[in-house]
Amino acid sequence: MRVGYVQFKPRFGDVKGNLARAFALMEGEDADLWVLPELFATGYLFDSREELRELGEPVPGGHTTRALLGFARDRGVYLVAGLAEREGDKVYNAAVVVGPRGFIARYRKLHLFGKEKLWFDPGDLPLEPVDLGGVTVGVMICFDHFFPEVARTLALRGAQIICHPANLVLPGMGQLSMRVRAMENRVFTLTANRIGEEARAGEVLRFTGGSQIVAPDGAVLARAPRDREEARAVEIEPGEARDKRITRYNDLFADRRSEFYDL
Ligand code: ACM
Repeated sequence: MRVGYVQFKPRFGDVKGNLARAFALMEGEDADLWVLPELFATGYLFDSREELRELGEPVPGGHTTRALLGFARDRGVYLVAGLAEREGDKVYNAAVVVGPRGFIARYRKLHLFGKEKLWFDPGDLPLEPVDLGGVTVGVMICFDHFFPEVARTLALRGAQIICHPANLVLPGMGQLSMRVRAMENRVFTLTANRIGEEARAGEVLRFTGGSQIVAPDGAVLARAPRDREEARAVEIEPGEARDKRITRYNDLFADRRSEFYDL
């Protein structure tokens, strides 16, 4: 199976341009599963709930999800992509999973970062991995990486690959913790981060790039530069993530002492 990340620089509010750029990058490389950044179609730094509501879209009927569905069907690929999902009065920092046969699932970010807390509603859906052609895949978004419970729950529920759309801003941290999340759960992690800077609403954020693909032993199979757009895929054997042994005597899941943990 070939899995990849799309790292690019969305322009705030330019949904059509951002979709076109992400699709053009994917067209240059072959993959079965692509992960795109958090909020890849809109940009990140909203300055009001009203602005967010205007740029948010229903899922799966909105423009962005329909465009992703079209690309997935035409190219025969699975896509995991972050977007602003509007549902009734609520707006979520969400990610959709789509494939060649249509819409598969959505995830809504559980742990909102910084000013996201002012504009977005917190996620309200269970952590449920999905089956993509025989491979079990989970989704988490950016700051969720600080909460090891998220990746652990996805892995305990069978995820072999954890897809991680991101807009990371704290240098090196998400890249480091997603290596650890991979290692401690013996899963593949696939982080798609963005690059560039956004200066809006009195704030300046610099996104750290460094999108990466990590193997269950923590090895970095691919990593993008900090400051360049790149769509890159590598071949993996997802079955490796079924084996939780790290020595003859140690199985990371069988050896858990959950009677001593709060969760
Ligand atoms: C983040 O959660 N976008 C840092």
